Amino acid sequence: MPGEMEESLGNQKTHSQLSRRHFLGWLGWGSLTLSLGGVATGTVAFLQPKLNYEATTTFSVGRPEDYRIGEMRVLEADRVFIFRAPPGFQALSMTCTHLGCAYKPFGPADKEHPMVHAHCPCHGSVFSRDGRVLGGPAPRPLPFYELNLTPDGNLQVDRAKTWPNNRYLTADGQATNGSVPDGKDIQF
Ligand code: FES
Repeated sequence: MPGEMEESLGNQKTHSQLSRRHFLGWLGWGSLTLSLGGVATGTVAFLQPKLNYEATTTFSVGRPEDYRIGEMRVLEADRVFIFRAPPGFQALSMTCTHLGCAYKPFGPADKEHPMVHAHCPCHGSVFSRDGRVLGGPAPRPLPFYELNLTPDGNLQVDRAKTWPNNRYLTADGQATNGSVPDGKDIQF
């Protein structure tokens, strides 16, 4: 009898050990499945973000009537110069094509540069009003950006699109070709 009792107790112990092992096993698998699910969800969310973080490339620079003919307006925050020449408006990048410094506003011709020009204070690049590099390490001309007139009458620059240096936007919103600017259009 005592032997049977011992055997039965032993069986009970084995059963409870087995069910504990089972339980722990399930718990392990469950946690693994849950964490893999979490990783998968995170990966999908990362690969397909719901929000669009792309920076906008267009910005408004005021109304045509806010500018006088002959004006060179420095828009530091947008890193762009807006010129109002007789044929129309132009938007020229203010970012030096060497290492990205903001170069200084255009100034009149002098002994060294017999044309309207602008200096970059960082490493000495010099640009002409039509965007060409006159000196220094800048590897490329400055880009002119596309301009449009919005339906509510604002000038809008699109820095993702470039224009040739002889294109202008008229005050009534037409893109037109004129002469390559030599800087005589700026009233200093
Ligand atoms: S960043 Fe303008 S010359 Fe170097």
